[in-house]
Amino acid sequence: MRTLLGLDVSTTGSKALLIDERGEVIASHTVPHPLSQPFPLWSEQNPADWWNGMVTSIRTVLEKTGAAETIQAIGLTGQMHGLVCLDEQDNVLRPAILWNDQRTQAECDEITATIGASRLIQLTGNRALTGFTAPKILWVRKHEPDVYARIRHILLPKDYIRFQLTGEYATDLADGAGMLLLDVANRRWSQAVLDELNIPAGWLPKVYEGPQVTGVVSERAAALTGLKAGTPVVGGGGDQAAQAVGVGAVQPGIVALTVGTSGVVFAPLASYAYEPDGRLHAFCHAVPGQWHFMGVMLSAAGSLQWYRDTLAPQEDFGKLTEEARNAPPGSEGLIFLPYLTGERTPHPDPLARGAFVGLTARHTRAHLTRAVLEGVAFGLRDSFELIKASPAGLINEVRVSGGGAKSPLWRQIMADVLGVPLVVAEAIEGAAYGAALLAGVGGGVWPDVQTAARAAVKLGERVEPDEAAGAYEGAYQLYRDLYPMLKPAFHRQASL
Ligand code: XUL
Repeated sequence: MRTLLGLDVSTTGSKALLIDERGEVIASHTVPHPLSQPFPLWSEQNPADWWNGMVTSIRTVLEKTGAAETIQAIGLTGQMHGLVCLDEQDNVLRPAILWNDQRTQAECDEITATIGASRLIQLTGNRALTGFTAPKILWVRKHEPDVYARIRHILLPKDYIRFQLTGEYATDLADGAGMLLLDVANRRWSQAVLDELNIPAGWLPKVYEGPQVTGVVSERAAALTGLKAGTPVVGGGGDQAAQAVGVGAVQPGIVALTVGTSGVVFAPLASYAYEPDGRLHAFCHAVPGQWHFMGVMLSAAGSLQWYRDTLAPQEDFGKLTEEARNAPPGSEGLIFLPYLTGERTPHPDPLARGAFVGLTARHTRAHLTRAVLEGVAFGLRDSFELIKASPAGLINEVRVSGGGAKSPLWRQIMADVLGVPLVVAEAIEGAAYGAALLAGVGGGVWPDVQTAARAAVKLGERVEPDEAAGAYEGAYQLYRDLYPMLKPAFHRQASL
């Protein structure tokens, strides 16, 4: 039996996942790694923790299965946007600055002023956001000039693992697009952006399509991990693109909705397009020759987690969400704004705040819970509306995964608010599964990513919008009006 290995360096751990050529999971192991937040707004990790964790995860999976000889190829995925800086001798120069680090607003403003807001969006598909990689490079230049002077290579988190495995400096286009340095339309680094930001092109890794082979496991890495030297390593994808592959969102019309801590709406595109205001991200897909739009809501299931932990710490999620059936659709006028950790889509505003609006003495805990479930669905609908108005156009089916997809009531609310059928995708292994499928294409098990997804992706229940759908319309319109009305208050709050 031929097998495939998916490796995922997430914010919480280093995972190795082994699947077979029918897409069945054989074994999986994750080693958690710490996160460091040494100053307000900072978020960093040590790349050595990722690699050490990955070595243990790979060794564990191989010891459990004895599969090293059967692995056709390895696919990589991980947290996007993080900055890893290497010197001449390939030493890591400082802790990696992560996707959720918020220190770079001044550098984002500088990038926008240098390149021009609409030109930046046209070239890179995106606005300058604090999480992206380019502003982090400028931050190091300004605040740590001695570190900057010694940089010779820049890598994304999963590509540091690739470097350790193969000795190659390489990335894939889906993850590369999140650096804000890629000419997304032409699928290559943007010389114009690099020149105008004065970043040496020679620091950047070589770019590949998701299933393309980027190198092979070295003798040194083989000795450390138990892998077979010479095993091919494919490009892979950033975690969102790999997650989309793992649920079969590999052609226009099939949208992936991931309701984890954050909420992500991922819509494949057959040709490059960008949202003129940059409210949606436009990135390359891990599927060769495809692009995608993406809306990111920062606190989706994270909102429910906060609500449960703070207001109903004894309850389990199942009981709490079922109780919300005691409140009617629309929660009798109670609206929840889910901006508990600021927001990205459609309001790129780190100072946006959460709110319950319209509380009365009639409202019970069931109403509050239901309002949280509805508010998150409204926030996701904001991304859907942008996608529907874009060249991505028609949405035929939405494949939902993540912890938030477990609640039957929440699934129904989302189908009703979004006005589309939702199909539950079995995606317990998340992005690592998509990375393994990309490895399957590069390793010759499947001819292309669409065939891989058809062969391997397992779908569950289908939820149709029901007659309650209309009941949310007024509440959604009010929800949309609330952020612009409250924005001045949120910003004043931040300065108190
Ligand atoms: C995507 C994003 C997150 C990170 C961490 O734009 O910021 O998905 O990749 O998971």
